[in-house]
Amino acid sequence: MENLGILIALFFLFSSSTSLHPSSHTNLQNHCLDVQRSALLQLQHHLYYAPNFTFSSKLELWDPNTHCCSWKGVTCDALGHVIGIDLSYQNISGNFHSIFNLHHLQRLNLAGNNFNTTLFQYEFGKLPKFTHLNLSASCFHGQIPVGISHLTRLVSLDLSYQEDCYWRNDQNDVSFDYPTLKLEKPNFKILIKKMRSLRELYLDGVNISSPSSEWCETTSLSLPKLSVLSMSNCDLRGHFPAEFFLLPKMQRIDISGNSRLMANYQNFQLTTLWRSGVPNLASLDLSWNHLSGSIPSSLFTLSTLQTLSLGYNSFSDYQLKLDMFFQLSNLRLLDLSNMSLLIGSVG
Ligand SMILES: *[C@@H]1O[C@H](CO)[C@@H](O)[C@H](O)[C@H]1NC(C)=O
Ligand SMILES: *[C@@H]1O[C@H](CO)[C@@H](O)[C@H](O)[C@H]1NC(C)=O
Ligand SMILES: *[C@@H]1O[C@H](CO)[C@@H](O)[C@H](O)[C@H]1NC(C)=O
Ligand SMILES: *[C@@H]1O[C@H](CO)[C@@H](O)[C@H](O)[C@H]1NC(C)=O
Ligand SMILES: *[C@@H]1O[C@H](CO)[C@@H](O)[C@H](O)[C@H]1NC(C)=O
Ligand SMILES: *[C@@H]1O[C@H](CO)[C@@H](O)[C@H](O)[C@H]1NC(C)=O
Repeated sequence: MENLGILIALFFLFSSSTSLHPSSHTNLQNHCLDVQRSALLQLQHHLYYAPNFTFSSKLELWDPNTHCCSWKGVTCDALGHVIGIDLSYQNISGNFHSIFNLHHLQRLNLAGNNFNTTLFQYEFGKLPKFTHLNLSASCFHGQIPVGISHLTRLVSLDLSYQEDCYWRNDQNDVSFDYPTLKLEKPNFKILIKKMRSLRELYLDGVNISSPSSEWCETTSLSLPKLSVLSMSNCDLRGHFPAEFFLLPKMQRIDISGNSRLMANYQNFQLTTLWRSGVPNLASLDLSWNHLSGSIPSSLFTLSTLQTLSLGYNSFSDYQLKLDMFFQLSNLRLLDLSNMSLLIGSVG
């Protein structure tokens, strides 16, 4: 009898959980709001499949007979609002105006597609809830629109490596003269000024060649959460703002390939930067920058560093002793390519 009681209890537990769960699950799946659904179908209608620029066809990503919250790359909240779209690396071209009708959208990833267009036509400011925006490697070019600077909740912004898209699509005719994204008006400072939640900023390959007084005057820089700053090949000029190194959460800085950076300065002011210490810095890439003068010894006290690239600069007259690296106990990668150094031995 005792066993039977347990069995019955188990039966009820089991049946109630199986009867409750699938129905609540189905409810959630069913909950695809019409207005969201039609915006997504409209979006699909204005996109097309273009595996290379010469061939294109209708995009058939989503089956209108199924629930929109189950569609590939679509994420909904519990109420059936679309909060995320990930259509990265789908060879997509066309326009994505319809996403601006998805008022709950927080994450958009259109990286690795074939848009070959400017961003002017898109009113990014209309979706102030954006936390993650990823438009990398999709052949976008021209000025970055001011609307992006209104996305004050952004946690991650990736506009990097647009040229990858041209290389993917243009394998027979690789040139280095593709149109780039530009950051002139708004300039860099205006773009990031209100993004107080920003953790990751990827602008590699964006042309930020405006005079240094405009782009790096960051006295009001207020990015307390920034941990990744990736700005390689941005044609940066003048003086790199020391404030970036001092941001409390900073872990990774890549400013390689900016051959005009500090061109007019005899000494990169690294020495001053490392008075105060950079508590979390794990990765620093200063390569390909024509930096001159001597490598400040304080650089070798950054014990958190895991990767350090200093190659292809003009550091001079510096006797680098191997024991200087002993304090960098976490170092996994050290790039000293093409440096004219005298390697001294310990002692
Ligand atoms: C995109 O196009 C390339 C060829 O241009 C192809 O190799 C790749 O599989 C395509 N990807 C998708 C998701 O269609
Ligand atoms: C473009 O892609 C289509 C379909 O994948 C293919 O038939 C065509 O040969 C490609 N054209 C070029 C120039 O690569
Ligand atoms: C942007 O999307 C691409 C493709 O999914 C991904 O590799 C990259 O890491 C993303 N960027 C960020 C900052 O998450
Ligand atoms: C990309 O667009 C530009 C015009 O903005 C055009 O001149 C160029 O031919 C396009 N590239 C490809 C590969 O379609
Ligand atoms: C960046 O833009 C400026 C001004 O338009 C131009 O002079 C410069 O050559 C560009 N830099 C690169 C690397 O394309
Ligand atoms: C390497 O450094 C030498 C000077 O030490 C310079 O002449 C040469 O151009 C550099 N190589 C490259 C690829 O920058």
